[in-house]
Amino acid sequence: MKETLQKIREAALSAIQDPSADPEQIRIQYLGKKGELTSVLRGMGSLSPEERPIVGQMANEVRAAIEAALTERASTEKKRLLEEKLKSEKIDVTLPSAAPRIGHLHPLTQVQRTIEDIFIGMGFSIAEGPEVEYDYYNFQALNIPENHPARDTQDTFYITDNILLRSQTSPVQVRTMEKQKPPIRVISPGRVYRSDAVDATHSPLFHQIEGLVVDKGITMSDWKGMMETFAREFFGSDTKLRFRPHHFPFTEPSAEIDVSCFVCGGKGCRVCKNEGWIEILGAGMVHPFVLSNCGIDPEVYSGFAFGMGIERIAMKQYGIDDMRHLYENDVRFLEQF
Ligand code: PHE
Repeated sequence: MKETLQKIREAALSAIQDPSADPEQIRIQYLGKKGELTSVLRGMGSLSPEERPIVGQMANEVRAAIEAALTERASTEKKRLLEEKLKSEKIDVTLPSAAPRIGHLHPLTQVQRTIEDIFIGMGFSIAEGPEVEYDYYNFQALNIPENHPARDTQDTFYITDNILLRSQTSPVQVRTMEKQKPPIRVISPGRVYRSDAVDATHSPLFHQIEGLVVDKGITMSDWKGMMETFAREFFGSDTKLRFRPHHFPFTEPSAEIDVSCFVCGGKGCRVCKNEGWIEILGAGMVHPFVLSNCGIDPEVYSGFAFGMGIERIAMKQYGIDDMRHLYENDVRFLEQF
């Protein structure tokens, strides 16, 4: 019996060393209920009382040795699998990573912020007004009564008889003067709406920046000086300005202001359509009627106002020939700015 036990031990241990053998099979074969060691133990009844404990102890040792060998094999196996896994999943942390794509401000926002910064630098603050506006603020208070022909030039979206989508940022002039006593220096950027068909230079929604200065003793030379300072900061220090007489019901006198072309310097090129000048804004001295409509005495105070289209300026500055690009948000287009 001792010999049988010894044989079982040797056979089991050598089987465990064989990497192709399944350790679970080995366990069943030797230690299982019907296993070889178990059947030896069953036969112990036929042994003499002296032999029984000796063989019993030996059988226990054999079982312990087989179990230990199986445990060891399991742990080597585990280690080997882990090593394999580590090897196959190895990453090289020194490889350069793919650069993340970082977004940036939309070109219209960039132009708007640049313009804002220039005026903030001259002591202006930012005023905002509603896009859904009363006819009163968009027209009447700006000296554009009902049936005035100037209404036709701004095809307005009406919501009711007296509520509309603002067709210009000028109503913010009125709202500001109603709330705030002079001195006033504000700019007001925002969306405006006109019932225009979409094409390369028109959109029913676009953006303007309005400016308003009101104080005692504001003259046309202040107006002109500030427009020049702005244009030189924005377009470059060589920029020249041209004031062309114009008419706005809410300013008197009024002008359209052109800057010398920042591409050709005035010689004539594609950007300025060979004119040497680019129109950038409408402006004028605030009409006395507008001041008094807002409770400001035109005998004491005077001021000037201006308004410019942000799209126009962005398109000229970046050489964008179709306004629709600015709204389609094609990343391939936007990435360029
Ligand atoms: N609101 C005018 C427009 O949309 C521009 C303007 C603003 C003119 C302020 C004069 C003063 O055309």
